[in-house]
Amino acid sequence: MKKSLLASVIDQWSVVPPVETADLSGKTVLVVGANVGIGFEASKHFARMQPARLIIACRNEAKGKVALAEIERETGYNGCELWIVDLANFASVTTFSDKFKREGGDLHILVMNAAIVQLVYQPTADGWESVLVYCTFSARCYDSYPPFRLQSLRGEKSSTPSRIVIVSSDLHYWITPAKEVEASTTPLETLSNEEWCIPEHMQSRYNESKLLNVLFVRALTDRLQSITPLSAVAVNPGYCYSQLRRDWYKKPTFSFARIAVALNERLLAWTAEQGSRQLVFAAVGGRDNEDNMKAGYVNLGRLIEVADFVLSDEGRKFQNTVWNETIDILNGVSDKIAPIVQDYLVVPDSSIN
Ligand SMILES: NC(=O)c1ccc[n+]([C@@H]2O[C@H](COP(=O)([O-])OP(=O)(O)OC[C@H]3O[C@@H](n4cnc5c(N)ncnc54)[C@H](OP(=O)(O)O)[C@@H]3O)[C@@H](O)[C@H]2O)c1
Repeated sequence: MKKSLLASVIDQWSVVPPVETADLSGKTVLVVGANVGIGFEASKHFARMQPARLIIACRNEAKGKVALAEIERETGYNGCELWIVDLANFASVTTFSDKFKREGGDLHILVMNAAIVQLVYQPTADGWESVLVYCTFSARCYDSYPPFRLQSLRGEKSSTPSRIVIVSSDLHYWITPAKEVEASTTPLETLSNEEWCIPEHMQSRYNESKLLNVLFVRALTDRLQSITPLSAVAVNPGYCYSQLRRDWYKKPTFSFARIAVALNERLLAWTAEQGSRQLVFAAVGGRDNEDNMKAGYVNLGRLIEVADFVLSDEGRKFQNTVWNETIDILNGVSDKIAPIVQDYLVVPDSSIN
């Protein structure tokens, strides 16, 4: 589908459906990037549904503690746990994953929410461009490791199938990979290369990361056996007030960029709470037709079609190339990825030839 900018603007002026609720007793929910913004608001909604465990994963302990106290205070829920992880650091992600393996137990809902917007090249300690890492590899480390402890993947019976929710954006409609990136056998390496990351290319980096989010959800779904009671879902939270554009607010008060962002927000933005309802829907909504949710894209409390590029042959080819490269990269980070891929995933027809 082609979604116009006007259609997204109309969405922003539409009534946001009320928050979906579900019985989460006995379930474990993990929200990554939960101390502020949309992830924090989603965590409060989950807390009100009284899961057995709610783990909020944050990079900053002090900020995480404040968020945890606020969740307890506002919801009266006492099962919230703060775990520390920094997606900018593979070592931190694997430490988190190891802890999850020891102490996490079954995981029923994973919400991969953390992201950043950054318009200049900044490599992580592991040498990868930051936005790409936050939105793709580190995120995938989660998807490929603790989530594969999802009860459903281990073949255990579950009254409610598990969900992996990846927070994307409507921005994925308005981006296609540059020709050089699409033609590359290692597109992530190309995207992350310092020489590629000139300011002009970095302008579209956040949008590219959101496209990669949608591709990941579809690639994973393609590789899950059809009987696996696990749905991977992408979601557009909508344009919301949050700290995502925090760098713009550091600019001088009367700079064009700051005024433009402030004006846009005034005209269009939802509250972070309204945005969080989309994440909650992606996590617990649409239970009457679970198959529909698989590889779905949630917008305004319902599923809509993704971008034409994603559905095209070129998009499918790119999706498979990115998947294979991601697994190769992750294999270099952790020796626990390969057995998971071998034991739980199948090779989709679309990737053979
Ligand atoms: N707001 C919008 O208009 C909008 C629109 C479409 C999609 N989205 C998506 O919605 C999601 C939530 O964004 P938001 O608007 O709520 O932004 P936000 O207020 O900036 O929240 C982002 C969260 O991610 C965390 N995070 C950032 N880098 C991290 C790292 N290296 N390791 C661990 N956690 C990290 C942040 O922690 P710190 O506080 O420590 O930085 C924060 O908790 C993102 O995926 C974003 O792309 C937002």
